[in-house]
Amino acid sequence: MRISHHFIDDLISRVDIIDIIDSYIPLRKTGKNFAACCPFHQEKTPSFTVNPDKQFYYCFGCQAHGNALTFTMEYAHLDYVEAIHELASRVGVQVVYEQGSAPTSLEQHDELYQLMAEVAHYYQQQLRRTDIAKNYLKNRGLSGEIAKEFGLGYAPEGWNNLSKHLGSSVKIQESLIKVGLLIENDKKQSYDRFRHRIMFPIYDQRGRVIAFGGRVLDDSKPKYLNSPETALFHKSKTLYGWHRIKKYHPDKIIIVEGYLDVIALAQYGIHNVVATLGTAATQEHLAVLFRQVAEVIFCFDGDAAGNKAAERILKNVALPLLKNGRLINFVFLPQNNDPDTLIRQIGREKFDTYLNAPTPLSKFLFDSLLEQVNLNHLDGKARLIELATPLLEQLPPQSSHATLFWNVLANLTGVPQEKLMKKNFPNPKVHTGKSIFSTPPINTLIQKIIKNLLYYPKLSQFVVNPQELANVNLPDINLLVELLELYKGNPQLTLARIYEYWRNTQYSHIIEELNGQKALLTESYVEEHVEKEFVEEIKCLQDYYKTQRIESLHRKAQFGSLSSQEVQELNTLLLSKS
Ligand code: CTP
Ligand code: MN
Repeated sequence: MRISHHFIDDLISRVDIIDIIDSYIPLRKTGKNFAACCPFHQEKTPSFTVNPDKQFYYCFGCQAHGNALTFTMEYAHLDYVEAIHELASRVGVQVVYEQGSAPTSLEQHDELYQLMAEVAHYYQQQLRRTDIAKNYLKNRGLSGEIAKEFGLGYAPEGWNNLSKHLGSSVKIQESLIKVGLLIENDKKQSYDRFRHRIMFPIYDQRGRVIAFGGRVLDDSKPKYLNSPETALFHKSKTLYGWHRIKKYHPDKIIIVEGYLDVIALAQYGIHNVVATLGTAATQEHLAVLFRQVAEVIFCFDGDAAGNKAAERILKNVALPLLKNGRLINFVFLPQNNDPDTLIRQIGREKFDTYLNAPTPLSKFLFDSLLEQVNLNHLDGKARLIELATPLLEQLPPQSSHATLFWNVLANLTGVPQEKLMKKNFPNPKVHTGKSIFSTPPINTLIQKIIKNLLYYPKLSQFVVNPQELANVNLPDINLLVELLELYKGNPQLTLARIYEYWRNTQYSHIIEELNGQKALLTESYVEEHVEKEFVEEIKCLQDYYKTQRIESLHRKAQFGSLSSQEVQELNTLLLSKS
């Protein structure tokens, strides 16, 4: 089921990122580059830049960046495979799968999506015809308009409505079972999962129906039934309401608990709201949201359950995602209120006062920790460190959140920050012997070389034999060697292809970090200067290796065990260095 790497590489080199992006947002030529107002954050003057040579985009405002595939994923909210299919159809090629793996049944999926759409339509029709269902929604304050916008429907009483309506051929039956609308019992008889329920279609990011939630019309149990996980529906990745809010260009997103909360808030004009589907929010959910906005607000009922849910988010979900620039806030509503009941009771304006005064995650974290300890005693301080450390260690290292949080802990306990963070930063490896470098720069040197190489692939010609560098014992050296070899094989490789080549590999984070640096698209270097610098830097690396090697051979010699080959190597090394 894997798409061939070769195909993806070929695809990236075939599409023109300018065409692709321009088909979504109009680009304007500015010198070598193209520019537009960034589609990923709100702005009035264009800082979104696309470079045709590198086939790469970068936003100076929000640092969004990537190749045509990244753009298609982010802008059109497609997953990786979907975006590949989208690009392939743009250039009129068939997606190629790796040998021995069957192509994904995309056509089959198409049929399932079609079926879901028909079922949603059927339920909507039934709602219009059924007074008891219409009245239920009316009594809960829903307007016909909002019911329509969310595609609400009604699954009538009876066990075989879907088959009656859609046909009872084996194929349809099987498909209905596959999407979770029919349940098959032990005797191989199937019946409708949803009966006499208000139906909430659940959409994917592209607005296709992938599942349903169904609510009873009275107090019977279970209150909600939901579609099971299917080929189309993955609960932990799906957010109710997500597909419709993009058009509102939200700068933050509120996460609530229920379908009806999303709908009620939308009815009152609050559109940046999504709900998890009867499960607690996951990191996957948050990752989806943070691709679109920098701030996420969790809205909980102000009761014990709400508090517990918030604590769970805090302990198990949120912290690792707090990269620079991101915010997670909590809103706690008054007891026994969910957003739906509250906004209908107090109105939009008063409801906004809750949204506008959220509790920052940091405050919630320290408040809940401080509740558990008594800082007047040493023991209490020790306990606080014990409780806080595993949490703070989850924060992205070196992020501003991490710095600030550790600082708060230091202030509360009087223990210096460096002591607290000890575990976070193990003792740096001490380079013994006299190295030509003071310790830290050598790592940044490699990063710098890689960065320049990504920017100026031509530089690869200055390294005759990349493999000679492979023995340098430094992190990321393998990446450098591979990169050099790739470029030597094909100096025309665009940054876009390199980026794709290493997507989701051990190197992707490095490339990601380096790409995220503005320098990539600014012409701040004089090329000749870069070349000189590059040659020098490579020489530094080689010298560094030689020094290391000489030292290690010397050490070995002290024990009198150099082979004749090693003696020769040592002599050559010493000569080359002088
Ligand atoms: N839920 C569920 N199964 C249940 C109860 C709840 O899947 N038996 C999920 C639904 O997605 C629901 C959400 O949890 O929307 C929140 O539940 P709850 O607050 O109980 O329901 P509300 O959405 O507030 O619905 P209502 O206002 O109709 O009670
Ligand atoms: Mn409710």
